[in-house]
Amino acid sequence: MGLKVSFESGKKVQSQGLFQKAEKVIPGGISANIKYFPPHPIVMEKASGSKLFDVDGEEYIDYSLCYGALITGHGHERITSATTKYMESIGTAIFGTPHKLEITMAEKLIELYPGIDMVRYTNSGLEATLFAIRLAIAYTGRGRIGKFEGHYHGGYNEVLVSVNPNEQEAGEAGNPSAVPESKGIPEDKLNQTIILPFNDLKATEQLLRKHAHELAAVILEPVQGGFIPAEPEFLEGLRKITKELGILLIFDEVKTGFRVHLGGAQSVYNITPDLTALGKVLGGGFPVGAIGGRRDIMMLSAPNAGSDVFSVDGKSHKKNDVVFHSGTYNGHPIVLSAGLETIQLLEEDNTMGQLFMQTNKLRKQLEELYASYDIPMQTIGMGSIFNIVLSSNPIRNYRDMWQADNKLREAIDRELLDLGVFLKPLNRYSMSTVHDNIDIRKTVDAHEKAIRRLYY
Ligand SMILES: Cc1ncc(COP(=O)(O)O)c(C=O)c1O
Repeated sequence: MGLKVSFESGKKVQSQGLFQKAEKVIPGGISANIKYFPPHPIVMEKASGSKLFDVDGEEYIDYSLCYGALITGHGHERITSATTKYMESIGTAIFGTPHKLEITMAEKLIELYPGIDMVRYTNSGLEATLFAIRLAIAYTGRGRIGKFEGHYHGGYNEVLVSVNPNEQEAGEAGNPSAVPESKGIPEDKLNQTIILPFNDLKATEQLLRKHAHELAAVILEPVQGGFIPAEPEFLEGLRKITKELGILLIFDEVKTGFRVHLGGAQSVYNITPDLTALGKVLGGGFPVGAIGGRRDIMMLSAPNAGSDVFSVDGKSHKKNDVVFHSGTYNGHPIVLSAGLETIQLLEEDNTMGQLFMQTNKLRKQLEELYASYDIPMQTIGMGSIFNIVLSSNPIRNYRDMWQADNKLREAIDRELLDLGVFLKPLNRYSMSTVHDNIDIRKTVDAHEKAIRRLYY
């Protein structure tokens, strides 16, 4: 099939021009490598509800939603109003001291997440997983971590490993190689991470038993990439083995938190991790992260008097007993006000049930459409996140995705950009509470047009 892709045709003139300008002053023209796609990303100007509007005046139904963060869509009136009113009422953007919303949010997270007894805030999901790993190393006195192939936890050395390895470098399925995802990762950092095969309990158990004495934690996305669910027996087994071996279990719920259940994937699976990382939805569109977990582990970061690393006399002995965690903007009041309003919205009137229903409606209609064109396709996912996989074989892990028709998927996604459906090509779909039936119908129609353009 000669895929003739419309997005190449240069309709997006302003976007192209701005991107060329950006490339002169910003490496690669982009502030996050993940957001790049060829020939150039689309520069947006405005957004509202389920829609994005680009600098060329084109409108898109947005299924990226800032990589899942915007569960109530763009510019929800309640969130805009809550944050602006709150900012006016407190008279500042940030106190730089403790404040009430830190407690309110912590209490809310403790109520919603079975694995959370105490909370610390960060500014991103990356910082949340990073701090969780440091806590685990401090708690166990062991130095290495286990991470699953294909799972993403942020862009730092220990976890920027085997997120997206190719077939030549990935190694054995049951004992994957640690493949760096960036230049500049020192060899010793690579060695710190043991790569595990997702949804393969037997091979995972073997690796965990072999390395038990040196493993502080196993970190995972309970729903890989937000769309490949862990099999319940796998998660149950993993919980049991890690407990037996004294390895801490970290659920990275940055994607799944509030998106598969208000209480995250741990509430769906009824499995309690030792530590949980949150982000994205928690900030209502503002930068955020949080770590929560067992009281005895979390308390390792409590500073008490005299443990400040910046203490002037440098004589503080306690600093050696405390896990350092800090950040100028941690627990930002405006961010927490947006997050609290978001959670409140999600808790009202069966909003989550409605959101899942809309997501399932879109999934079902897309599946019917592809079936009517005899294109092997399935949607997989959980709650308000899913992905389109062009294969009818079961998808249980990262390697299973290799045999899907990703070339065709990418071509369809690029047509969709031309037809007013926004998603970074090959990325997952996230739904919001404001995507309505008209959006769904237009999206399915756009898929049909994309298929017809490519095939006929
Ligand atoms: C599962 C997971 N963990 C961690 C992160 C990093 O979060 P952030 O981009 O806020 O640093 C992401 C971001 O996509 C994620 O999906």
